Amino acid sequence: MQDFESVGLVDDFELGQGKAVVFDGRMVAVFRTTDGWYAIDDLCPHMGASLAEGYLDGDSVSCPWHAWRFCIKDGRWEDNPQTKVDCFEVKIEGNEVLVRENKIES
Ligand code: FES
Repeated sequence: MQDFESVGLVDDFELGQGKAVVFDGRMVAVFRTTDGWYAIDDLCPHMGASLAEGYLDGDSVSCPWHAWRFCIKDGRWEDNPQTKVDCFEVKIEGNEVLVRENKIES
């Protein structure tokens, strides 16, 4: 299994917002919520908007361009759960935010 990689410091991430980071050569959207930390592929599969820039409502982020909604916990597209974007595991160590890929089977 892939190792965790640091993607920044806790204070770099605003509560209730997404932030796009580079992880393993790609863009990943990391979300800091009152419920925990989550990360999914930043690239919307529709037309490529940044999901980190979307509107976060509970476990769901709406794409900023055409409002497709994705679950930030498992990457599922809420309107068609057969489709999903990649999902990542996040852990906090000290003040460091660490990410690794987390393939959840449908
Ligand atoms: S680019 Fe995300 S819904 Fe269209």
